[in-house]
Amino acid sequence: SNNWIEIINIDDIPEDDVIGVNVSGQNIALYKVDGEVFATDNLCTHGHALLSDGFLEDGEIECPLHQGRFCVKSGKAMSEPLTEDIKTYATRTEGNQVFLAMS
Ligand code: FES
Repeated sequence: SNNWIEIINIDDIPEDDVIGVNVSGQNIALYKVDGEVFATDNLCTHGHALLSDGFLEDGEIECPLHQGRFCVKSGKAMSEPLTEDIKTYATRTEGNQVFLAMS
């Protein structure tokens, strides 16, 4: 079952951008795309780079190290050199508060 954790005020996530947050000791990347919040692991599945240092465009995050791209909604690896998808987390927003599901 999901454990919903209150993590941030939605206004603290810049529009169409990414930030890194620490949730229960885990490094999570939060994205805001057209006002909607998505969450993935922050550490790239390819190497030691943080996706929160990357570039968000059209719902895809580009890794800063080798420019691999993930879909932030599905976690799917969309381009080389990525071979592994990234883990996603469900989010929900109540008022201004964003909650993340940790299982
Ligand atoms: Fe992310 Fe290589 S570390 S693409």
